[in-house]
Amino acid sequence: MTVCGHAAPLPDPADAVPRPGGGPGDAALPPGPADTRRFAAASLAAGDPTGWFERLYAQARDGHAVVPWDAPAASVHLREFGLPPGEGRRALVVGCGPGRDAEHLATLGYTVTAFDIAETAIALARERHPGSPVDYRVADLLDPPPAWRRAFDLVLESNNVQALPAGIRARAIGAVGEFVAAGGTLLVLAAAATDTPGEGPPWPLTRAEIDAFAGRGLRPVTVERIPAAGSRLRLRWRAVFTR
Ligand SMILES: C[S@@+](CC[C@H](N)C(=O)[O-])C[C@H]1O[C@@H](n2cnc3c(N)ncnc32)[C@H](O)[C@@H]1O
Repeated sequence: MTVCGHAAPLPDPADAVPRPGGGPGDAALPPGPADTRRFAAASLAAGDPTGWFERLYAQARDGHAVVPWDAPAASVHLREFGLPPGEGRRALVVGCGPGRDAEHLATLGYTVTAFDIAETAIALARERHPGSPVDYRVADLLDPPPAWRRAFDLVLESNNVQALPAGIRARAIGAVGEFVAAGGTLLVLAAAATDTPGEGPPWPLTRAEIDAFAGRGLRPVTVERIPAAGSRLRLRWRAVFTR
């Protein structure tokens, strides 16, 4: 599949970075970021690196927290990438949350499967997009359905690996690549690590981590580090791989 050129990036509100101190009761700052770090820290301390996603979505659904990446519009980085029409090709959206990017790919004509480990995120996706052609599934990137192996013409990994701690990132990166069919495309959109690391999540990806998506038959097509205007995370990766 051929991918098109793309214009200069714009800020994406959903990619906004948590600001220290932002939390319920802090009138000056939005509550989402502090919630995220509080939920993640408790989960990691308990040895459960992904359990906090479900707890955060469930608390947010009940009005007790905010999911900072839960924006109505698809990622601006995805929209500006300039994907070609899907023409029925099979796309997989990793860590789809409530479905903003999955719905965008469906409008482009892809036959979309989208999954998330958080049941509440998938329930929200189905609720918010009644009649959607997207096949929303609860699944774990680290233990995916075997039928998804090398089954998709387009795989989108946007902002997920950066939310996972060091101990499981290599496995997650390898698992993402295994979804790409022969001749297929993997698009990775992520915050890029700089020499001034901040508190996570998110933990921006290093160049070595981006390069690690290649291998096992996947090879890089383009790897770009681009400015992320409007975000404390100043740089982003936009990387394309093919098999
Ligand atoms: C930072 S959010 C990004 C969501 C979405 N990609 C976006 O950009 O709006 C990370 C998402 O990955 C999901 N996730 C985390 N670990 C996962 C796993 N092991 N398998 C599937 N989804 C996972 C979370 O529930 C969450 O929805």
